[in-house]
Amino acid sequence: MSNESAALDLATAYSAVSDLYRGTELDIHEVCRQQRHISPIYEGDFITQFGVPTNAGTKQGTKPTYALFKYQDVMAVLRDGATYTSGFIAEGLGAFFDGLIILAMDGDEHRKVRALLQPAFMPETVNKWRPQIDQVIREEYIQKMLPDKKADLMKFGLELPIRVMYALMGFPSDDPSKYKQYAAWALAIVGGNQIDPAKMDEARRQAGLAVKGLYDALADVVVKRRAEGSQGDDVVGRLLRAEYEGRTLDDHEVITFTRSLLPAAGETTTRMFGSVMTLLLTTPGLLERVKADRTLINKLMDETTRFEPVATFKVRETAKEVEFHGVKIPKGSFVQCMVISANRDEDAFENADKFDIDRKTKPSFGFGFGPHMCIGQFVAKLEISSAVNAILDLLPNLRLDPTQPVPVISGAQLRGVSKLPVIWD
Ligand code: HEM
Repeated sequence: MSNESAALDLATAYSAVSDLYRGTELDIHEVCRQQRHISPIYEGDFITQFGVPTNAGTKQGTKPTYALFKYQDVMAVLRDGATYTSGFIAEGLGAFFDGLIILAMDGDEHRKVRALLQPAFMPETVNKWRPQIDQVIREEYIQKMLPDKKADLMKFGLELPIRVMYALMGFPSDDPSKYKQYAAWALAIVGGNQIDPAKMDEARRQAGLAVKGLYDALADVVVKRRAEGSQGDDVVGRLLRAEYEGRTLDDHEVITFTRSLLPAAGETTTRMFGSVMTLLLTTPGLLERVKADRTLINKLMDETTRFEPVATFKVRETAKEVEFHGVKIPKGSFVQCMVISANRDEDAFENADKFDIDRKTKPSFGFGFGPHMCIGQFVAKLEISSAVNAILDLLPNLRLDPTQPVPVISGAQLRGVSKLPVIWD
């Protein structure tokens, strides 16, 4: 792997992406709270004040733009893929992926491709991976940390999703060090969506190298696996055999879809892991409760998804004229759905600003909603619950390191903590 981008170090690539998606210092929760009280709809590009890209890429700012803040409105948009479409993403973020980018598909095409892919990610399939995931997390990571009595858990969090996905995808396990290269490439792709003109050319060049590097690496695996008879219960094996209404996936589609999974499945899970652990360690009394009753980990993850969603907004384009709160939104407009606001809408959630794992179950939008809802959410939850369980089992008297700053969840587009310093006995 002599390719220039091979030099890209994982931690450096991650912090470059964090810088890009962190945006201005504005407190996005507070800005949204004020906006909800002024008006449920904002006429204009609400996101621009945060200095982060949307997945419209260079199309951002080229169409009339509106933002929505209330739970019911965000749900109405995300659930209706016919009126609110995603095709524009193909020219924005999707331009880096050339190939099967399900996120940017609409209508029947999306429905068919999603039906092909979904079985590989449903709980019945995913839960079979649990023993393998538990073993990797415990033996390769947590047990090895034990003698140190302290760690920045984000170092583990950064490697966790890619190491797990690497195994589940069906890559040969003879060279596990490759997964770091894959992860760095995946991050360079996400980082390609740069909006700072001074950094844009270099970011795109790196993204281009990463797209090619990943394609070649995955093509080796996919072509070989097809030649060997497309066996196996892993993601690549399942995709090679997938069939729906007579449609199957060719090698190029399997390669490009698998490639798109690495960015989708990587740092999102890292961020959620960091937020779950931070809220677990900073909410009074919660650690003891969860330690004693591990079934609460599901509630912990669901409430974290509501309270601090990793992705703060989703953009759609209107396929016809629509109206919200007396404002007519013309066909061909961008609608910015402020997930972070809807998840704390006082009309939808009692004490919305309180982190409360005991609240009544209700959908929130941290994994999206409707036809594009995250296909990998069960994988992400499985990884995080396996990691939390391992940490609680193996690190005695775990607590935040009192000599270090308390981690703060921040970021205008992608939220998370940058460090998670902990100690144990
Ligand atoms: C905590 C971790 C994750 C978060 C917060 C997250 C978040 C999201 C969100 C918000 C969407 C909806 C996008 C939209 O409506 O435009 C989405 C879609 C998607 N996610 Fe995730 N995701 C996570 C983990 C994963 C994992 C582990 C995988 C793969 C195994 C994955 C694969 C996908 C794919 C393929 C889509 C597109 C689905 C479609 O367009 O039909 N994600 N994700």
